[in-house]
Amino acid sequence: MSGPQVVPKPLLAVLKGERQSVPPMWLMRQAGRYLPEYRALRARKGGFLELVYDSAAAAEVTIQPLRRFGFDGAILFSDILIVPYAMGQDLWFEAGEGPRLAPILAETDLGALKPDFGRFEAVYETVRQVKAALDPAVTFLGFAGSPWTVATYMVAGQGSKDQGAARRLAYGDPARFGAIIDAIAEATVVYLDGQIRAGVEAVQLFDSWAGSLAPLQFERWVIEPNARIVEKVKALHPDVPVIGFPKGAGAKLADYARGTGVDAVGVDETVDPHWADRALPEGLPVQGNLDPLALIAGGEAVEQAVDTIRAAFANRPHIMNLGHGILPDTPIDHVAALISYVRERETA
Ligand code: CP3
Repeated sequence: MSGPQVVPKPLLAVLKGERQSVPPMWLMRQAGRYLPEYRALRARKGGFLELVYDSAAAAEVTIQPLRRFGFDGAILFSDILIVPYAMGQDLWFEAGEGPRLAPILAETDLGALKPDFGRFEAVYETVRQVKAALDPAVTFLGFAGSPWTVATYMVAGQGSKDQGAARRLAYGDPARFGAIIDAIAEATVVYLDGQIRAGVEAVQLFDSWAGSLAPLQFERWVIEPNARIVEKVKALHPDVPVIGFPKGAGAKLADYARGTGVDAVGVDETVDPHWADRALPEGLPVQGNLDPLALIAGGEAVEQAVDTIRAAFANRPHIMNLGHGILPDTPIDHVAALISYVRERETA
């Protein structure tokens, strides 16, 4: 007689602090435009939000990169801007440009937004469908944007080079900006709790614009709200690891790791991995930090970067990933070659 078979999940094991001789691997933005099967489905659905709100299609997009490459992790197909959408802000995607939100300008009252957390339900349904179809060795990751990064879009109504509108509001009217941050943090806890209850096994907080803040602002708008989210998610789900990805944090990376209480930290490609290894708490799992442009170049550029990263993180739990999202013009062959290169070698 045998009990239920327990299938090892290497990525989840690393997130729980276990070092692996071959680092498990997934790529940020692995479901997306570099894949012809994604572009075909996206064209059939007509728009990005249509794809997100069709749970069967979104589940299919989540699984597409797994089928092709056999990654160790699947990341839910959705977007960080679903949170402001559920907070009541209009959201649409301009063809060939990117997301647009009706901007929260200084004169608009946050209280005028009518939250509708029912807008999360289709995403939870995507999670359930992916969960039912996923290979049990694969770790299923949910995600949300961090309050600062989400606020930069909510305030400006779109992406911007220097996040100037949000940075100005944060200095000019910190009480008002703080209310926006708090409202995002609250909605984010609801959203992550829902994703976890529907079946994701770990979550990542994307703070893609963390790098634009001065140190005191970083403490207040990055570390503090992420710490609050981590604490609340942990209170509800103590065993679900949280990955924090403060892109561009640079020298503030160690303060971020200690200050937020995340279980693992994502490192972007501008950080020297040997420095990160010295600066981060011993034993803390790290994820990263291959340059997405090296992956476009392929060949020796990738192999050299992979060797350096693995040597630097040889003594701690490590997840191989990019330093930021995979770019749409990445050759698919280069992704397959990266996976083979990583899996054919064991760390000493
Ligand atoms: O990682 C994955 O594969 C899962 C899905 C995912 C998407 N967006 C799908 C998407 C994730 C994790 C995100 C996160 C996201 N979205 C971030 C944080 C990470 C980062 O890259 O910095 C940000 C800032 C956004 C906001 C956003 N969504 C922008 C700026 C854009 C347009 C430009 C771009 O990068 O594509 C999107 C659209 C978007 N989100 C697409 C995808 C696959 C492309 C939509 C299309 O098909 O046209």
